[in-house]
Amino acid sequence: MAKGMVIIGAGECGARAAFALRENGYEGPVTLIGTEKHLPYERPPLSKESMVSEDHPLPRTIAGEDQFSEKCIDFIGKSTVSAINRSVKSVALEDGRQIDYDRLLLATGAVPRALPLAAGSKHCVTLRSFEDALAIRARFQRDAQIIIVGGGFIGLELAASARKRGAKVTIIEAQPRIMMRGVPEEIAQVIDTRHRNEGVAIRCNTGIVSIADNADNVSITLSNGDVVAADLAVIGIGATPVTALAEAAGLETGNGIVVNDWLQTNDPDIFAAGDCCIFPLAIYGGRRVRLEAWRNAQEQGALAARNMIGSLEPHQAVPWFWSDQYDLGLQVAGLADEGNQTIRRDLGDGAFILFHLADDGRLVAASGIGPGNAVAKDIRLAEMLIARTARPDPIKLAASDVKLKSLLAA
Ligand code: APR
Repeated sequence: MAKGMVIIGAGECGARAAFALRENGYEGPVTLIGTEKHLPYERPPLSKESMVSEDHPLPRTIAGEDQFSEKCIDFIGKSTVSAINRSVKSVALEDGRQIDYDRLLLATGAVPRALPLAAGSKHCVTLRSFEDALAIRARFQRDAQIIIVGGGFIGLELAASARKRGAKVTIIEAQPRIMMRGVPEEIAQVIDTRHRNEGVAIRCNTGIVSIADNADNVSITLSNGDVVAADLAVIGIGATPVTALAEAAGLETGNGIVVNDWLQTNDPDIFAAGDCCIFPLAIYGGRRVRLEAWRNAQEQGALAARNMIGSLEPHQAVPWFWSDQYDLGLQVAGLADEGNQTIRRDLGDGAFILFHLADDGRLVAASGIGPGNAVAKDIRLAEMLIARTARPDPIKLAASDVKLKSLLAA
């Protein structure tokens, strides 16, 4: 009898994988184990809608209880796996249960990187779970003084949400500019200006020297000697992949759980996918990357599921991520740092796209910013060009009257 498929981690990736096993015809037992009490839910709203909705927010679940039972997916919440026993192919839960597997998927995700100086402070928090979001939301009050450490995705989205709630916001960023990771300067500049126009103070090139809790607030000493006080400090300085279980089980790890093109670890019966894994990105010649992105978690969850039941399809997707701040929508397809030449296309209403080309003229990435969904369609077309390793004519890329679709046809 089949022991079944076990998935550790019930976020976007793990939940997607569980359903994908069924969609692809797998009929044996499927067990999805997660530490949180909620059914698997979407994380992207946590820094956005959940912060600003008029009504008290609820987790936006990926599937309802009825869908889990209809698909015979055994969801075990509030449970932590304490060990993987590879020799007998079973996992041990902290409560003493053992669950056997034929194939195992690690979808353990990532956790916010800790700022050691903030350890023990009751006014310094991070955002990952729905509970974290509720705690932050409760402190985003009118005129509350909020400090955000880290001008990356989480920090900037939270800054926009805090302003919407009427709080006063200061961002402390260690690097010379915001969004150094993955976002070109020209686009980061638009976002920077927008935040400043909304009244957010942004201090780049600024480190933190010490953090001291007072009864009702926290005092943060900056590298230039200034001391800033805040009712709440949110630390958004990146994420760390959750690899401890994999490491303890003797699987290969580095900056993530190491997997091959099929998302398989060095144990052929154990796969890893989503934020926790480091994988070879085929479109860039096998460059090893770890992506913290919603769509990557979905795609890799589904791909891992297909490969767990024997399809052995290589990972080929083009990375894609987005951010919404105020009415601005940012989208990036591909990894912009693969390019060394940039072509700009203006789309009107202040929206524009940057096409990133490699030395050989190949389109390797495209990043765009504009109101609402202004860049979505063209980024989608760019993504298709990237997937086809197209070498579009730079003059046509820049000419907004030349439809990108026509380049795809060429
Ligand atoms: N002080 C100030 N800023 C710092 C420090 C520090 N000690 N350390 C890092 N930073 C800055 C980085 O320079 C960077 O601009 O924090 C920012 C972190 O940005 P990201 O790498 O985008 O990470 P974060 O915003 O935390 O998001 C983590 O979670 O949900 C996902 O999509 C999200 O991929 C993102 C991830």
